[in-house]
Amino acid sequence: MVLLAAAVCTRSGKALVSRQFVEMIKSRIEGLLAAFPKLLTGGRQHTFVETESVRYVYQPLDKVYMLLITTKASNILEDLETLRLFSRVIPEYCRSMEESEIQENAFNLIFAFDEIVALGYRESVNLAQIRTFVEMDSHEEKVYRAVRETQEREAKTKMKEKAKELQRKRYEESKRGGKSPGFSSSSGGFGNSSGFGSSNNFTSSSTVSESITTVPQETRSSLVRPSGPNRAMKLGSKAKDVDSFVDQLKSEGEQVTSANDSSTKMAPVSTPQVDMEPVHVVLSEDIVVRAGRDGGLHNMEVQGILKLRISDPEHGMIRIQVENQDTRPIQLQTHPNVDRELWRSCSQIGMKMANKPFPPNTDVGVLKWRFQTSDDTFIPISINCWPQENGAGGCDVNIEYTLENTDMELTDVTITIPLASGAPPPIINDCEGEHEYDRVHCALIWRIPVIDQNASSAAMDFTARGNPDNFFPVRVNFSSTKSYCNLKVSGVLSIKDSAPVIYSSETCLKTNLYEID
Ligand SMILES: *[C@@H]1O[C@H](CO)[C@@H](O)[C@H](O)[C@H]1NC(C)=O
Ligand SMILES: *[C@@H]1O[C@H](CO)[C@@H](O)[C@H](O)[C@H]1NC(C)=O
Ligand SMILES: *[C@@H]1O[C@H](CO)[C@@H](O)[C@H](O)[C@H]1NC(C)=O
Ligand SMILES: *[C@@H]1O[C@H](CO)[C@@H](O)[C@H](O)[C@H]1NC(C)=O
Repeated sequence: MVLLAAAVCTRSGKALVSRQFVEMIKSRIEGLLAAFPKLLTGGRQHTFVETESVRYVYQPLDKVYMLLITTKASNILEDLETLRLFSRVIPEYCRSMEESEIQENAFNLIFAFDEIVALGYRESVNLAQIRTFVEMDSHEEKVYRAVRETQEREAKTKMKEKAKELQRKRYEESKRGGKSPGFSSSSGGFGNSSGFGSSNNFTSSSTVSESITTVPQETRSSLVRPSGPNRAMKLGSKAKDVDSFVDQLKSEGEQVTSANDSSTKMAPVSTPQVDMEPVHVVLSEDIVVRAGRDGGLHNMEVQGILKLRISDPEHGMIRIQVENQDTRPIQLQTHPNVDRELWRSCSQIGMKMANKPFPPNTDVGVLKWRFQTSDDTFIPISINCWPQENGAGGCDVNIEYTLENTDMELTDVTITIPLASGAPPPIINDCEGEHEYDRVHCALIWRIPVIDQNASSAAMDFTARGNPDNFFPVRVNFSSTKSYCNLKVSGVLSIKDSAPVIYSSETCLKTNLYEID
């Protein structure tokens, strides 16, 4: 699953309702929610933020946030769709977005959240369906409660009887002059807490009598769902259905595209094998661009992280020299365990506790940076997509790209142009690079292995059915082994004697979302 949790929290990150879809301890989810408001930067309306480990997709609703926590590998566009659905169910159950109102309806919200997931959140589930299922669940719950009350009554009666019997036995034994046996030795099933609270067989009376002593104290958390295990199974199987459906689609897509285009398939670009030294540094960046079809940049955000991987504990006592030659206003932030003074005074990254080594055998994110702008001049690559109606129910589409930032080298570039659904395959009049028709997703994919200073622009020209709006949003994917921000590791030093330490490094930049709409 890519959806880790769905929650409603206050502006300060206090959880009002949270439903986790993976194993997660309470403190972890509370920590994630508490961290969330701190990640928000004021000003512009964003829809998601990311940390090193998770992505938050959120929507402000008056005084609260509807929030999804997903893995970073999940598809942001799908997540936004899902978020919209989650947000819509809240007003269904709550009259206002007040804290108290949300808390009062926490049960129903959790049930509704479960239904969204159980019904397969990628499909369009409507509110009526969710409501029906929630009502059915409430019925299930009433039945469950009734059964439980009966059981508790029965158990109490049985316990009284048993106690009486024991008393009688003791009395008889003492009459016979024997020693009084302790309560415990004769109480076979007592004290065993595998009561029906944790079991689903609450109708079996044998379970009840086995666990008599646990019954009265049993306080089942009201937030635990009676039909929990069933729900989990339902979720699992649905998720699997969705997965296999997606797989099927994918394999269809491959068949479709390979049938025609087998000769033009691009050879996979082999990623260079990085020889890893005991000290390895990874600079990775993620880029999000939203641009307008008329050329304006709506928003661009680059998020980067410097990770350190020490595979030999002997090499943990080090400092990393970073060079920031960027003139743009890049926000940098060091990990809390990193010595801030050292960073400020000489751009070195070292542990705050000078006698402590960096932890070995794990990726440690030590420095993060962020660059956000809406200034056109910062865009890496511009796309000019120009559909012109041809008077025959279709358009002649001219599309060209230009590498605006000629310091960059983009590899494995794909430019995906949507086509009107159900339209026949487009007619390609002219294309520099390779193209592929994706029948399943109704799109034309333009592939360019490398875009750099020497090959900074190219064009394609095709004719397809549809109106100009059908050819947007155009999406671009690329990766690069050069970073966007001009940030470099220029050396690694041993703390002991400031001698240089041999290290290996790796840089990767990839698009998270690059959209022209
Ligand atoms: C509870 O009962 C089960 C099965 O009778 C037994 O295996 C287990 O050891 C018992 N646990 C305790 C704490 O007595
Ligand atoms: C793919 O092949 C089919 C049948 O051979 C043909 O009708 C169709 O036009 C081709 N599509 C493209 C994009 O070349
Ligand atoms: C770009 O072209 C120049 C001159 O033709 C050449 O020396 C250089 O290696 C090329 N750069 C790349 C990245 O191909
Ligand atoms: C572009 O990237 C997205 C997200 O990583 C992915 O879902 C999509 O399939 C990619 N498009 C192409 C044409 O590879």
